[in-house]
Amino acid sequence: MSKFSNQEFFERAVRVIPGGVNSPVRSFRSVGGTPVFIERGAGSKIYTSDGRELIDFCLSWGALLFGHADPDIVGAVMKAAVDGTGFGAATEREVLFAEKICSMVPAMDQVRCVNSGTEAVMTAIRLARGMTGRDKILKFDGCYHGHSDAMLVSAGSGLLSGGSSSSAGVPAATAADTLVAPYNDADAVKEIMAAHGDSIAAIIVEPIAANMGLIRPKPGFLETLRELTRMHGARLIFDEVITGFRFGPTTYGTLCGIDADLTCLGKIIGGGLPLAAVGGRKEIMEQLAPCGPVYQAGTLSGNPLAVAAGLAALNKMDAAIFPNLEKQLGCATALRGACAQIKDSAFTVFFREEAPQNLAEAKECDTEAYGRFFHSMLEQGIYLPPAQFEAAFVSTAHTEADVDALLCAVERALQAI
Ligand SMILES: Cc1ncc(COP(=O)(O)O)c(C=O)c1O
Repeated sequence: MSKFSNQEFFERAVRVIPGGVNSPVRSFRSVGGTPVFIERGAGSKIYTSDGRELIDFCLSWGALLFGHADPDIVGAVMKAAVDGTGFGAATEREVLFAEKICSMVPAMDQVRCVNSGTEAVMTAIRLARGMTGRDKILKFDGCYHGHSDAMLVSAGSGLLSGGSSSSAGVPAATAADTLVAPYNDADAVKEIMAAHGDSIAAIIVEPIAANMGLIRPKPGFLETLRELTRMHGARLIFDEVITGFRFGPTTYGTLCGIDADLTCLGKIIGGGLPLAAVGGRKEIMEQLAPCGPVYQAGTLSGNPLAVAAGLAALNKMDAAIFPNLEKQLGCATALRGACAQIKDSAFTVFFREEAPQNLAEAKECDTEAYGRFFHSMLEQGIYLPPAQFEAAFVSTAHTEADVDALLCAVERALQAI
């Protein structure tokens, strides 16, 4: 156990790191209190600098399908590290990794590795713009696609006008090229495509939304996006940074039978290391430099440690039993004053009577109640995402006892708050 408490670490952290964290949602601003400083993780558990053992249902925001410090993944990283931590040149492991992903996702002939989901999305958008010669992108309110300028845009004053930037520092001209529709609203998309279809390079969507809490697509919604993009000569981008390999050994697009033109992957495919990718058909992917005119590059792209971890994770999937809480709970469970939306191993407890279908409904949640719920869960040894509008996850390392502990704690927390 460390000689410093969470509080002491946090006081040191805020002196040298903005807000004490390297990514804002870690700061606990949404739930109040001091962030947990984690010393180590093993399987389903994390151990804090205060000496606490917590069952982790945040799992590095969904990256750890096999839990913490999985021996196969750690072993692969250690072996790769001994061979050299980076070359900035082609390596065999990258080829094995790309072959493995392409064999698991029928819609992908090729993938390009990058370091983060943000970069994967930036690359997909540039490819779509480069191929179509169009500038506009249509996204959905409440879907998160990383922190590039074009994606930090939320709904503007009207459906048919450009969005407004959701961060200082995003040029208005960039935001104007991003149109924003409500998630799950096929009619709104039809209206936008009818007005702007000829200047839209791509529609980008999280096929299951997981960044306003977990929200399932309505039946037919994704199919409509596929139809409309084809009809208007735009590309369809599935951002599967969360959903890719979460529900089975492939993308959600494969599972639901809809082939996007480009798919962005991250989190799980890196086995917990910084690795993401964009993939699609050869004729699209070969628009990227050095084959084609769309430029994209990265010193650390396809880093040996990251692809070793990713490959080890992908190799484990053939034999993996993907966790599924739906069997125990159904997919939308009514709770006292709340509602749990569950898709296999991803879930959100919403403080609203019914599971929301879009951002406007998600915003009706009682976020203060979520804060009290989060802290009650933490006191009971359960670590959830420290914000209402996030998804929680289960890994293959979680045992039935871990899931029982979660369910008991939820029951007690809902009584207590
Ligand atoms: C759907 C989705 N796309 C993109 C990103 C950005 O990924 P990264 O944080 O690796 O840049 C995230 C991050 O959570 C995400 O959930």
